[in-house]
Amino acid sequence: MSANAAGDVGRQSRKSVGNIHGISTDSITLTRFVLEEQKKYPSSTGDLTQLLNAIIVAVKAISSAVRKAGLAQLYGMSGEENVQGEQVKKLDEVSNELMINMLTSSCTTCLLVSEEDERAIEVDADQNGKYIVCFDPLDGSSNIDCLVSIGTIFSIYRKISTGKATDADALQPGRQIVAAGYAVYGSATMIVISVGNGSHGFTLDSSVGEFILSHPNMQCKERGNTYSINEGYAAVWDAPTREYVESKKFPKTGKAYGARYVGSMVADVHRTLCYGGIFLYPATKDTPKGKLRLLYECNPIAFIIENAGGLATTGHGPILDVQPKSIHERTPIFLGSRLDVEDVLELYKKHANDA
Ligand code: AHM
Ligand code: MG
Repeated sequence: MSANAAGDVGRQSRKSVGNIHGISTDSITLTRFVLEEQKKYPSSTGDLTQLLNAIIVAVKAISSAVRKAGLAQLYGMSGEENVQGEQVKKLDEVSNELMINMLTSSCTTCLLVSEEDERAIEVDADQNGKYIVCFDPLDGSSNIDCLVSIGTIFSIYRKISTGKATDADALQPGRQIVAAGYAVYGSATMIVISVGNGSHGFTLDSSVGEFILSHPNMQCKERGNTYSINEGYAAVWDAPTREYVESKKFPKTGKAYGARYVGSMVADVHRTLCYGGIFLYPATKDTPKGKLRLLYECNPIAFIIENAGGLATTGHGPILDVQPKSIHERTPIFLGSRLDVEDVLELYKKHANDA
């Protein structure tokens, strides 16, 4: 230890060097970022920090399960059906269990809404806290068995009622989100998170087991050059969607847009956030409310995209302004670069009076 002029051993303030011999010695980990955010609110209890740490642990464990799924024979069906009537994959089950166990044991939550559970999960009184978490533990399950990127999506709300938490506490518009984010299990594992002041990306450094700030203050380009939609449903799209996609494939001026579609929302959204462009999951004749779920797919992603300067709309207004009526409700969604999404909004206005 060294002594400063006042003779205090090891107590002088010091400036971090940051990097010694090519090794970063002062990285901003996700935990450190969350703690620094917490310090901005002197009255904060630390509960949100604790809750986010629980999610970080769950994501690390899911990432590890995803990486060793083949070897551990976690691919394939579990034999169960979820609330949407879809076959549940084994990794879905593992991920759901991890999220629920980490969240309840953090003692910061009172109600959990999961894509995998028909009813909201009430947290036992002895583990009760003030936050509601809505999550999709493993999104993009059709891509699990073929090693394509999948993800976890979550949003956090404060309980609004005074009594025991009920579904009504989870039915808050996305504008009320306290924090939201997604993890993508791709060529690397990354968490993109927002507590309402920008969207920030943290990449998992598996050698130290920490998420490190790699993409501070991500910005969605004003306009991109790709569109992302399942074109297999073109025959049942509504008129604005059909006209929009046509205009990108056969533009009157300029270059046609490229097409990109992974089929995992998190991967399609992450690409849109990184490179710009638009992701569309519209209403169709068969699915008049679209496919994607408002509470745990669309709202958290819309929060991230808006915090990165992009837009996320139902075609008629911001996703974040929708008043949810039920916990598993669906909504059409168009999100990404501001000018691209505005083009879609114009077409919905143009077709507003169609029969
Ligand atoms: P899941 O929650 O069952 O995985 O379904 C949601 C997924 C999204 O990740 C993706 O955007 C969409 O379903 C793809 O649907 P489709 O196969 O109809 O294009
Ligand atoms: Mg999903």
